[in-house]
Amino acid sequence: MACGGTEQFRGEDRILGMPMRYGMGCVRAMTGPGWSATLVTNDCISERISVGGTVGDILGTRYLGAARLAVTAMGLGCMALSGLYGTPEESGSLRLLDRALELGCTFLDTSDAYGPFTNEKLLGRALAGRRDKVVLATKFGNVRRPDGSFLRVSGDPAYVPQACDASLQRLGVDYIDLYYLHRVDQQVPIEDTVGAMAELVTAGKVGHLALSEAAPETIRRAHAVYPITALQTEYSVWSREPEAEILPVVRELGIGFVAYAPVGRGFLAGRFSDPAELGATDIRRQHPRFQAGNLQSNAAVAARLRAIAEAREITPAQLALAWLLAQGDDIVPIPGTASIEHLEQNVASASVRLTATELASIADAFPPGVAAGDRYADMSLLNR
Ligand SMILES: NC(=O)c1ccc[n+]([C@@H]2O[C@H](COP(=O)([O-])OP(=O)(O)OC[C@H]3O[C@@H](n4cnc5c(N)ncnc54)[C@H](OP(=O)(O)O)[C@@H]3O)[C@@H](O)[C@H]2O)c1
Repeated sequence: MACGGTEQFRGEDRILGMPMRYGMGCVRAMTGPGWSATLVTNDCISERISVGGTVGDILGTRYLGAARLAVTAMGLGCMALSGLYGTPEESGSLRLLDRALELGCTFLDTSDAYGPFTNEKLLGRALAGRRDKVVLATKFGNVRRPDGSFLRVSGDPAYVPQACDASLQRLGVDYIDLYYLHRVDQQVPIEDTVGAMAELVTAGKVGHLALSEAAPETIRRAHAVYPITALQTEYSVWSREPEAEILPVVRELGIGFVAYAPVGRGFLAGRFSDPAELGATDIRRQHPRFQAGNLQSNAAVAARLRAIAEAREITPAQLALAWLLAQGDDIVPIPGTASIEHLEQNVASASVRLTATELASIADAFPPGVAAGDRYADMSLLNR
């Protein structure tokens, strides 16, 4: 990467949802193989960085697991593009994925369960001819019927290679960078499932192994069979449960942590305040946190986040993401969005630096257990 000259600027603008106040700043023109960008910094006001021009690399790199799988500090959760939250027009989804790659947000998260199957196909179309530009993560084991309804959890060793081959075909690729067991099959010893997943690495179909929503003891047993590179679990200001046991275990074992639903499935971001605003088939209508009885108390939690964000002149989603990024270099949030504007705002949040005082006040305002209601209608599917 080559850096061009610098120049002074003055003025006020709002770029990627981030206010650039009046003041002096500097503009750095940067180029790299196949891209160019202009980073605008406003150092005298804050450490905020915004992207002007076509491409940015403001996310930087984080490394997952002892194998140090290099990923962007924030990924893109692709679930919202197919199925569970509705299905936007494909042309818009393809534009969103293009923009993610332009912005350097190249850690893409999908699953065979999203759609089901159509999300992987969408990514296959989006990535044709540029597979090498992304770190591709997908999942298996959360088995769905074609209409999307839940069928079973499967960690059956015989099913593992079948699921992987089907994902490879839908994605149109010959390897998956990070392959997750989406849900732990409580009927199959984790050693057997991970043993079958390890054979995929040997066969060159998968780069690294990962688990989703696994209990601490399961993580230990799985890691003893084959090195686990990442654990994916819900983690955000209002879902701080992983801090008690899960984060200490993955840190002890040198496993990376991928934080899903980092903006509270849109509720913390102010995307909706009542499930009635969502589409008729949107899965969030069934989530206990958005049901009468919990909704009012959780609205107060979202309002608390909004107030802190307003004081900082950023959006609530940006505050939620900046808080997560500040929890450790081993944590990689994967916010989901179908909106290019929201994607840009989320990427820009990587340049928000929260002070120790701000982090402490957020910790006070959002203690573990602050959200009312379970994360899922059926918590028995989670390995605890
Ligand atoms: N391993 C698992 O079991 C599991 C479970 C759930 C999710 N995931 C993964 O995690 C990813 C993220 O989770 P998620 O999508 O459930 O929750 P999320 O990222 O917390 O929230 C997504 C929602 O927030 C809204 N949003 C995002 N950025 C916003 C912004 N800047 N301003 C306003 N609204 C914003 C989106 O609406 P718009 O589309 O309008 O922006 C969308 O409705 C998924 O895509 C999936 O890859 C994994």
